[in-house]
Amino acid sequence: MPTIDQAKRLVQNRSNIVVLTGAGMSAESGIPTFRQAPRGLWAEYSPEHLATPEAWQADPALVWGWYLWRMGLVRAAVPNAGHVALAMAAETHTIRIVTQNVDDLHERAGSGDVLHLHGGLFAHRCFACARPHGEVAIPDSGTTPMRVEPPRCAHCGGLIRPGVVWFGENLPEAAFTQAVAASAACDLMLVVGTSGIVHPAAGLPLVARDAGAAVVEINPLETELSAVAHVCVRGSAAAVLPEVLG
Ligand code: OAD
Repeated sequence: MPTIDQAKRLVQNRSNIVVLTGAGMSAESGIPTFRQAPRGLWAEYSPEHLATPEAWQADPALVWGWYLWRMGLVRAAVPNAGHVALAMAAETHTIRIVTQNVDDLHERAGSGDVLHLHGGLFAHRCFACARPHGEVAIPDSGTTPMRVEPPRCAHCGGLIRPGVVWFGENLPEAAFTQAVAASAACDLMLVVGTSGIVHPAAGLPLVARDAGAAVVEINPLETELSAVAHVCVRGSAAAVLPEVLG
C-alpha cells in the first residue's frame, strides 16, 4: 500500500493526534527553512552570530535587525494548505500542535491548541528584567536584514529582545512539559517538516513511539527521525496534509 494511504488509514483509525512541526511546515508559505540549501537562513547568516545570548550582547542591533526582517516575512505570509488542513482536522480529531516554529501561521489558520517550544517572534521582552514589551514597528517584507537599534524597556531601560529561544537557552518549561505529556498520551504523532536534529524537541517522536503511538513522518527528504517513524510519506506539508487528513 502506498505510504500516503497507510498514513491516511492511521488518521482514520486514531483520535488523539500530536503534530510536531518544524520549519518545513511554513516553507510553502514563503518562510525559509533553517538548514535547507540554498535558501536556508542559516546558510546566509551563521547561528552563532545571530541566535545566541552572546551574539545579542556583542551586537544587539545586528540581531534585532535580523529578527525584524524575519517578522516582516512572517507578517506578509499566509498559512498554506497544510496549516489549514490541520486546523480543519480539529473538527473530527483531538489535534495538539507542538511547533518549533516561531511564526504564528498555525494560529492564523485557525488551530487553537498550539505549543510553541522555541518561543514566538512577536512575544518581545526585556533582556534585563524579562517584562513583556508591546508591538514594535515591523519593516515591509522584501527588504534585506539591516542593523536596527532595539527599543528600550519602559520599566528598567533594558534592551528589548525577541521572544524566541536562542541556542544555549532553556525551552519554555510549561510548554515543554505539556509537549512531553501530550506525546506520551497520543495514539498518533505526525512529524512534519523538521530535520529532527535540534533537541529536546527532536526527542518527542521517540517518546510517542515508546508509549505505543504510531509515528508518521511527512517530509520530502529523509531525516534523523525517519528511523523512528513507522510510515514516512515523502512529500510537502501543503500537498500531503490535506490528503492524509481529508
Ligand atoms: P530545518 O531547516 O532544520 O529542517 C527543515 C525540514 O523541513 C527539512 O527536513 C526539510 O526537508 C523539510 N522541508 C522543506 N520543505 C518542506 C515542505 N514544503 N514540507 C515539508 N517539509 C519540508 O528546520 P527545523 O527542523 O524546524 O531552533 O529546525 C529546528 C530548529 O533549528 C529551529 O526551530 C530553530 C533552528 O535552529 C532555534 O532557533 C532554537
